[in-house]
Amino acid sequence: MRRRSFLALAGMTAITGATGLALGGCGGAQGNEGTLSLTTPLRIPPVLDPAPGKDGVKRFDLRLRQGRTELLPGKTARTWGINGTHLGPTLRARRGDRVAMTVTNTLDEASTLHWHGMRLPAAMDGGPHQMVEPGATWAPEWTVDQPAATTWYHPHPHGQIGLHVYRGLAGLFLLDDTHDPGLPHTYGVDDIPLIVQDRKFRSDGELDEHFGGTFGPLADDVLINGTYGPYFRVTTTMVRFRVLNGANAHVFTLGFADEREFHVVASDAGLLDRPVAVRRLRISPGERFEIVVAFDPGEEVLLKSFDGDAEIEDGAYDLLRLAAAPRLTPSPGLPARLTSLVPPPPGKRTRTFRLYGTHINKHHMDMTRIDEVVPAGAREVWEVDNITFSHNFHIHEVVFRVLDIDGERPPEHLRGPKDTVYVPGKTKVRLAVEFGRHTDPRTPYMYHCHILKHEDKGMMGQFVIVPPGTENSTPRTLTGAGHTHH
Ligand code: C2O
Ligand code: CU
Ligand code: CU
Repeated sequence: MRRRSFLALAGMTAITGATGLALGGCGGAQGNEGTLSLTTPLRIPPVLDPAPGKDGVKRFDLRLRQGRTELLPGKTARTWGINGTHLGPTLRARRGDRVAMTVTNTLDEASTLHWHGMRLPAAMDGGPHQMVEPGATWAPEWTVDQPAATTWYHPHPHGQIGLHVYRGLAGLFLLDDTHDPGLPHTYGVDDIPLIVQDRKFRSDGELDEHFGGTFGPLADDVLINGTYGPYFRVTTTMVRFRVLNGANAHVFTLGFADEREFHVVASDAGLLDRPVAVRRLRISPGERFEIVVAFDPGEEVLLKSFDGDAEIEDGAYDLLRLAAAPRLTPSPGLPARLTSLVPPPPGKRTRTFRLYGTHINKHHMDMTRIDEVVPAGAREVWEVDNITFSHNFHIHEVVFRVLDIDGERPPEHLRGPKDTVYVPGKTKVRLAVEFGRHTDPRTPYMYHCHILKHEDKGMMGQFVIVPPGTENSTPRTLTGAGHTHH
């Protein structure tokens, strides 16, 4: 028996002993604190950054495939990946680039690839209306027109997102801008992606795909970039980590074992005004934060996730051992200013989304129903009022700013550009949302809870962006949508 299982059992006895029925209500994750040797080198996903063709277009070839991957040491698991057998390459493009994707599905079931955080026409978004059948190729194309950000991509087939992501379909898509804030930016050296995902394993090393409970998998093992028990050798005095919570349900509260301070420099959709010092950083599924951490030569420090109050933050985890080399290359100092964000303009209109159980405004997702019609370029306030248990909220295509959480201004690191926000139980969050200008009254974008089990249950709605003035004449029903894949 691995030591972790022993501790988990001991922990359970303690919990049930003290509070009787407590286990039924919590996520059941116990964490892995103190149980790992953290000796496997952190995997760094390869970069895919194709040179533009003669026509100036950057072409990315992506193949969804299955295979076997050594996730636990010495054992292999059946996994899915993009180009490889698990996870996908880190795609990279610059503002102004024309990008063309070919997404070929070699799996034996239909799926999609959604560009989470990308501002693009709805037909290119890779949501549930852009299914890619087995053997088929989907070829969306768009022009990158947004500030530098850490975005990502993952499948979005209605009802199957959780399983497809869990098996390994996810990757980062880094966007660069002409404005360079002066942060560490050498990929794999001082600019390091961290895709954080919890996984349950069977004793033979296969992924356990049986997700019970209200939230789906909340597991005791955590993979970083698909690496079990990872360490990273630090060679510079500062390292920028681009953290993606790629878990199905787990909320992680990041921090270091020695309680050192670190700086948040960017959230989902781009840079903060200035670096914000924190000791703890909560990140919910789908969110990204970029952080900068300073190191002394020769030191070792542990990146951890700390236990939280909510059902989906259970357990303390050792995530990544950082081992600094005896001599470190000096990094440039942390810039005092990163960008200048304008305060969000007042919204013209407020829409309210009540989260109750896994319903949004009393509805579950209907592929044929348009829930909201938004005029192009609109600025609106979206009020997300969570009546029951923990959720989060993601809106496709847009960028938003968190105005307030239960009437209070959010902490400084949550005031930057975002597309996904944690909404704890019994909490109201108000968002200042900026919509894009790609109109298409017949193809919806999604908004949803990014806890994938909730999303799969239908905790999702659809909106279209239309030419201003045509809102009232826009049909609210999509005929021919919502075909066979459920
Ligand atoms: Cu990351 Cu609609 O999702
Ligand atoms: Cu998205
Ligand atoms: Cu939810």
